[in-house]
Amino acid sequence: MFFSRSLVCLAVADLAQAASSKIHWGPCDLGEFNTTLSLQCATLRVPLDYSHPNSSSKIDLKVVKIPAAVQPSRGSIQLNFGGPGLPSRQAAVNIGPLLQMLSGDVYDLLAFDPRGTGTTIPFICTEDAFTIGQILDGMESGTASDTALGRLWARGEVDANICKLHGNGNDIGEFIGTASVARDMVSLVDALGEDGMLRYWGFSYGTTLGATVAAMFPERVDKLVIDGVQNPHDYYHADADFEEWTDSDKVLSYFFTSCIEAGPGKCALAAQNKTAAELEQDTYSFLDVIRAAPIPTGAYLADENGIKSFILQELKDTHGWPTLSQILAVLVYGSDATKRQLLGVLYAAEEAANALGVHSIDSTQSLWGIHCSDRVPRIDSFDKAAPVFTKLNNISRLVGGLVAYITTHCAQWPWHASSPYTGDFRVKTKNPILVASNSRDAHTPLRSALNVSAGFEGSGFLEVNGTGHATISAPSVCGFRALVAYWTNGTLPSPGTVCETAQPFDNYEWSDAIAEATGSKNATSLKERVVYPRRLL
Ligand SMILES: *[C@@H]1O[C@H](CO)[C@@H](O)[C@H](O)[C@H]1NC(C)=O
Ligand SMILES: *[C@@H]1O[C@H](CO)[C@@H](O)[C@H](O)[C@H]1NC(C)=O
Ligand SMILES: *[C@@H]1O[C@H](CO)[C@@H](O)[C@H](O)[C@H]1NC(C)=O
Ligand SMILES: *[C@@H]1O[C@H](CO)[C@@H](O)[C@H](O)[C@H]1NC(C)=O
Ligand SMILES: *[C@@H]1O[C@H](CO)[C@@H](O)[C@H](O)[C@H]1NC(C)=O
Ligand SMILES: *[C@@H]1O[C@H](CO)[C@@H](O)[C@H](O)[C@H]1NC(C)=O
Ligand SMILES: *[C@@H]1O[C@H](CO)[C@@H](O)[C@H](O)[C@H]1NC(C)=O
Ligand SMILES: *[C@@H]1O[C@H](CO)[C@@H](O)[C@H](O)[C@H]1NC(C)=O
Repeated sequence: MFFSRSLVCLAVADLAQAASSKIHWGPCDLGEFNTTLSLQCATLRVPLDYSHPNSSSKIDLKVVKIPAAVQPSRGSIQLNFGGPGLPSRQAAVNIGPLLQMLSGDVYDLLAFDPRGTGTTIPFICTEDAFTIGQILDGMESGTASDTALGRLWARGEVDANICKLHGNGNDIGEFIGTASVARDMVSLVDALGEDGMLRYWGFSYGTTLGATVAAMFPERVDKLVIDGVQNPHDYYHADADFEEWTDSDKVLSYFFTSCIEAGPGKCALAAQNKTAAELEQDTYSFLDVIRAAPIPTGAYLADENGIKSFILQELKDTHGWPTLSQILAVLVYGSDATKRQLLGVLYAAEEAANALGVHSIDSTQSLWGIHCSDRVPRIDSFDKAAPVFTKLNNISRLVGGLVAYITTHCAQWPWHASSPYTGDFRVKTKNPILVASNSRDAHTPLRSALNVSAGFEGSGFLEVNGTGHATISAPSVCGFRALVAYWTNGTLPSPGTVCETAQPFDNYEWSDAIAEATGSKNATSLKERVVYPRRLL
């Protein structure tokens, strides 16, 4: 069996022991995390296939714990930061200190890499460098040219063949779906030996995971927050994540209007003496030009896909907007020489962050492996898929083409997730969940949060009148108080609560909001502790 290295086969005699095993915390491997926090680590053995829990095929979840400052803690909160396809452990470590403050400093925070990612049976299509290059090269924007969609569609079948022939899909392709991860979360709750109840905090796709685990195990829910909410009905049952992108173009427009309001002192683009509408139009014109004539940039082509991906990424967090405005000022209005120089710097610096559409094979194949096996419908011809792309482009000029590769591949994906959640997300959980959203989120619109909240009876709702992906990107005193009240006391925000936050370009940080809310005297120590890491989600 190829790529079976992280699958563990146990002798029958080990089974009873594995089933009853509780978790044992110890130090993490040396150098495993780049942090000064004192962490603990443990391994939990779980079934590969929950429909055959006694089978000898097991996998090991490597769990990291960021202990609460005050011990004994009130229990554990599990975390997930989305994708799907992204590992969770390092992200949890990076943002752990902030989430501890936002949960009242009384819980341990836990994270494991979801199946199919990172240290937990990563989904792999091929390890051949040439083939990987072909896969990544093929992931162009659906709007790149007249032939782009047809090529993407054909790649969908070719890439699936590669995964089937050279990857580990035949071994794990059915077992990395969201419902299996939900069962892992409950296995972890059982192994922790706390109160047997689930506490969970999920962001972005982590909200689909959260809605799924809450719907599958409503009696297990103690406290659960989903922030930056995907429409899970779309995620599982539509041909594309249509609703996810409904506010993207509006948030880009809002970038330009708030730039003009902030003025040239804070937003470089405002110095162009143009209206917000003109700035926006000029930006789209620039994207049209670069679509036809990509700019050679070091080892990369700066193309429409890359610049659009970069802009979309920057819409996640307004703290980057002053820089985004400087970059667009050069790209849209600068000379050819300054453009080339800036792009060279950007691509060199962003190489690791994938923000310029330079996809990483790891997160791409994991995304296909998880999302495509979760997605129920398939499409049997390019002709039948065409309306999906038309609809995506109509929903968002910025994003429509960028996400076509998810539809083309999922529509032809060979594996379906085993034992999926098949319900309709209309559930009454034992304790109410809390659903949170910013008013303006280019990745997960407010309406998706309202949609999920409507299904979960008794759920609370927190709206922050801010901009960015999930409310943790928009620091506010009121949001801080609402989260602490929920985590420490189960108190839900009063219906209709809308928290105010600072304007974009005002550079208001979580340390400011928390200092204001708690009357903290030591702002320096807060600033060091509660960073919201850029590019988290
Ligand atoms: C480790 O973290 C420090 C401080 O955040 C950072 O400066 C450094 O670049 C990181 N090193 C690696 C290898 O990521
Ligand atoms: C698995 O094994 C346990 C303990 O031997 C047994 O109680 C349980 O019924 C078995 N489950 C299945 C699905 O066979
Ligand atoms: C914008 O207007 C100001 C004042 O009229 C002028 O000094 C500046 O050069 C103008 N900037 C551009 C880019 O046209
Ligand atoms: C495009 O979207 C608008 C609403 O935003 C809708 O009225 C129209 O029918 C859509 N067109 C297509 C082709 O989907
Ligand atoms: C939630 O969204 C799904 C898919 O778009 C839709 O079918 C459903 O009616 C929505 N539910 C509510 C309560 O809005
Ligand atoms: C929400 O924020 C926007 C932008 O800052 C502002 O125009 C609007 O008045 C705010 N809405 C409420 C209800 O405060
Ligand atoms: C704690 O919860 C109770 C009951 O919901 C509520 O009356 C009380 O105000 C809450 N206290 C705080 C500090 O949120
Ligand atoms: C504030 O925190 C910083 C960094 O943690 C520390 O060096 C400093 O001594 C603290 N100042 C006070 C007055 O406690």
